[in-house]
Amino acid sequence: MRVLLAGGAGYIGAHVAVALIESGHEVVLLDDLSNTSAVAAERVSVITGAPVPLVVGDASVDAVVEAAFDEHGPFDAIVHLAAYKAVGESLQKPLDYYANNLDTTFALLRTGIARGIRSFLFSSTGTVYSDPADLPFTEESTTSIDLSNAYSKSKRMNEVVLADVARVNPELDVTVLRYFNPVGAHESGLIGEDPSGIPNNLMPFVQRVAVGALEEIGIFGDDYDTPDGTGLRDYIHVVDLAVGHVKALEQGAPGYDVFNLGTGRPVSVRELIASFEKAVGRELPSRVLPRRPGDVAATYCDPAKAQRKLGWTAERTIDDASRDAWNWQSKNPQGFQTA
Ligand code: UFG
Repeated sequence: MRVLLAGGAGYIGAHVAVALIESGHEVVLLDDLSNTSAVAAERVSVITGAPVPLVVGDASVDAVVEAAFDEHGPFDAIVHLAAYKAVGESLQKPLDYYANNLDTTFALLRTGIARGIRSFLFSSTGTVYSDPADLPFTEESTTSIDLSNAYSKSKRMNEVVLADVARVNPELDVTVLRYFNPVGAHESGLIGEDPSGIPNNLMPFVQRVAVGALEEIGIFGDDYDTPDGTGLRDYIHVVDLAVGHVKALEQGAPGYDVFNLGTGRPVSVRELIASFEKAVGRELPSRVLPRRPGDVAATYCDPAKAQRKLGWTAERTIDDASRDAWNWQSKNPQGFQTA
């Protein structure tokens, strides 16, 4: 397949690009580089030995998407990972989040459908599930649009749009992938997560503490109703996540379908820190802080549907993710800027 990867130079996008190329597909990246670097695309090319064209542009603008098709099309599929994703920022800038995270989908769908794509793959989030009584979450678990932040709401809104678009385009394969917590890096150490500023998410924060760029890890609450009192999440190695995209494209069938991509194994904040300390070979400073507003005690999925219908299952452990994240961060202490 020839695939247009919107958001393809981002953390997840670069790993999806590698996985697609390694499975024999061709990719073209479309990215505005607002939260990543063109170096990511070059590194995908180094890892795979394949040409990786990068179109620098805003996927929410029809003319930009059309130009990408004119120059690099036709495409069989669009994989849409182009979004703003900082939960805290989305509370401050809801309009930016709704506009960008929906307009990208509209522009990609309009041009993609007009130009005859067969598949549209969308990056969603496990935070669309709203009832903790449903744990572990299956694709049938209750979802809500009444979520705690604009980022998560924008993802759920996208799902609603996509289901309707699929209904009136019965030949189109529309697949929604609900990610749990992506962590880790490619084993080469050439690509990995490179958030700008102070990381919001746990693993990149721990990575920065390990290279000495930040002083200590803050543990957001140790009084949750969980085995060690800290929050439980379903951390999935980004390479496993990327392979899930390939399987979804290859196994896809016309119509709308949704898959959880997670491990099904909850890991606590303290367990993640311990795993990372093992990878680094020393203890890392940490301190318990108050709970972070909006956090839930636990979220993890039942990944059985992806196994059954896509033949996909997460193979890597949290220790693999810690090892690979440390390999990436220690070789690139300032992320892609080091290059
Ligand atoms: N945590 C800490 N210290 C930190 C950061 C996080 O203790 O410095 C804890 C959190 O309280 C939580 C766990 O680590 O228990 C995971 O937090 P992350 O921020 O890494 O991940 P979240 O589960 O909050 O985020 C997930 C996805 C995001 C998505 C978000 C929506 O990873 O992509 O849900 O709420 F945007």
